[in-house]
Amino acid sequence: MNLTIRRPDDMHCHFRWDDRLKTVLGFTARVFGRGLDMPNWKIPGHPWGTEKSPWAPGVRAQDVLEHRAMIQALCEEHGWDFEPIGCIYITEETDTAMIEEAARAGIKACKTFFRGVSTNSGWGVRDPLSVGHQRLLSAMQAHGLVNSMHVEKPGVFILDAEREALSVFERIVKTFPALRSVIEHISTADAVRMVMNLETPNVAATITPHHLLMTLDDVLSGGIRPHNYCMPVLKRPEDREALIQAAISGDRRFFFGSDTAPHERHTKESSCGCAGVFCAPVAMPVVAAVFEHYGALDRVNWFTSESGPEFYDLPLNEGTITLVKRPWRVRASYGDPEHPEKCIIPYLAGEELAWQVEGVDFS
Ligand code: DOR
Ligand code: ZN
Ligand code: ZN
Repeated sequence: MNLTIRRPDDMHCHFRWDDRLKTVLGFTARVFGRGLDMPNWKIPGHPWGTEKSPWAPGVRAQDVLEHRAMIQALCEEHGWDFEPIGCIYITEETDTAMIEEAARAGIKACKTFFRGVSTNSGWGVRDPLSVGHQRLLSAMQAHGLVNSMHVEKPGVFILDAEREALSVFERIVKTFPALRSVIEHISTADAVRMVMNLETPNVAATITPHHLLMTLDDVLSGGIRPHNYCMPVLKRPEDREALIQAAISGDRRFFFGSDTAPHERHTKESSCGCAGVFCAPVAMPVVAAVFEHYGALDRVNWFTSESGPEFYDLPLNEGTITLVKRPWRVRASYGDPEHPEKCIIPYLAGEELAWQVEGVDFS
């Protein structure tokens, strides 16, 4: 069985600033036409760094452009046809001139974390409803940038953190109706309902492959599985079901964003392990399997290849990829085998998957 679709875009990727970029980029760049390049990097020696923590994330347009150049150099070296979509990191120190500059530089989105909810979110915003942040949202709206949000409230019991932050997102959407806002990597039925009830084309949500496939049991039941641990944490079976229904619904406001998030093995398999699932090598095979199971293979193309660029107002990719139903086994790890502690363990490591992308062998 074959399924040919338009070349997909991944609207939420963590490629990192360090050596991990080299290890992981190909898994996205060989399959996807574009990827939204999430800026929660640790840029060493950044002028916004302090003596105590001498680094900062991608807060300036020039940081994002520098990362873009790093990606483009690798793509050129390997002959990959892939475009990063730029996104700056919004902090308490960001001003409207920086947003204007980002727009001028061709950057498409601004990422806001509530401070302290996820990887490198210590630079995030304390209160996304503050007057200061509203000024930034207004600038994003004026310059046509997308407001991309990690919607979880810090300090709230972890299973409720997304739900309790939905009202903040909703308030922003209602205050800035012409601003395009994305609630990233939704994990609950409540978030699905909110997007549907908002009834505006200017709101969308990304959905990851691992939130389509797993519940909290896959992290905690019968042993701790740190490589399935991510933020927002996986939730209940009924949440997963709601995400699947949203993804296959054909409602163009739900589209694919993998949230592929590589961490070195020793930082995941640790007494305080990092959040993030490195799903890039299995992203399209997982989507195909889920959509097949629900009899919705004809909607894969909308979910992964059309809804995202339409929302972001980008031209659709021109090429195609073909998904073939041919079993393969996911590698146990990627990276330098001489340094197993630094290797990156992919999502579904060692498992057999039914689908693969034709001509792209990640086994
Ligand atoms: O699990 C996650 N990992 N969630 C995020 O929001 C960030 C990401 C990362 O950068 O590792
Ligand atoms: Zn996030
Ligand atoms: Zn993310």
